[in-house]
Amino acid sequence: MSFKVKDHYFKKAKKEKFLARSVYKLDEIDQKYKIIKRNDHVVDLGYHPGSWVQYTSKKVGEQGKVVGIDIKPVNVKLTNLKNVHLFEKSIFDVSVLEDLSVDKLFDVVISDMAPNTTGIRSVDQDRSLNLVEEVFRVLPDFLKPGGNFVIKVFDSNQAQQFLKENQKVFQEFHKLKPKSTRSVSKEFFAIGKGYRA
Ligand SMILES: C[S@@+](CC[C@H](N)C(=O)[O-])C[C@H]1O[C@@H](n2cnc3c(N)ncnc32)[C@H](O)[C@@H]1O
Repeated sequence: MSFKVKDHYFKKAKKEKFLARSVYKLDEIDQKYKIIKRNDHVVDLGYHPGSWVQYTSKKVGEQGKVVGIDIKPVNVKLTNLKNVHLFEKSIFDVSVLEDLSVDKLFDVVISDMAPNTTGIRSVDQDRSLNLVEEVFRVLPDFLKPGGNFVIKVFDSNQAQQFLKENQKVFQEFHKLKPKSTRSVSKEFFAIGKGYRA
């Protein structure tokens, strides 16, 4: 099946002027688990093209802040959003808050990062897990105690094992496959609330 298929969520995103259909995944997660609040400082890992940034920018409001990083060049369509700061950086090149020009730990870390897929399932799963492991590695440097977390994961035995071993860093931990996820997709989201730094 073609991934360019113009499904319901694709059309809805276009109509509602969101840059990607993935916004409905974050919307569902946030509605269900109350991840993002007004005035929060949020970092969005792998933000491009930026529908999660659009959603989060509105939700945190003027006093809040959204910092996005992606290996792709900064999306100029988002530069009019006053509370948004974007960087062309890889997750593997950020390790301290100063790398993102901030001086305070984030209230929320969200990651929709996905590797370039090869179509070879085991390779794609390994690459995705590599990103997930890196995010967990840098969490203590970015997420405040009590903070919330969302991360995309390509399902595999290794990923499940990794999450099982690491979920205890959150007081509450959930997994969700949002309704807008394509049925052929093996991705799901891990959601953590109440980070135990
Ligand atoms: C599914 S897209 C994100 C869509 C986004 N949430 C939205 O709503 O528009 C995944 C992104 O992860 C980014 N990515 C992949 N590897 C990365 C890395 N090492 N560091 C930062 N971003 C990365 C890709 O460039 C891609 O833009």
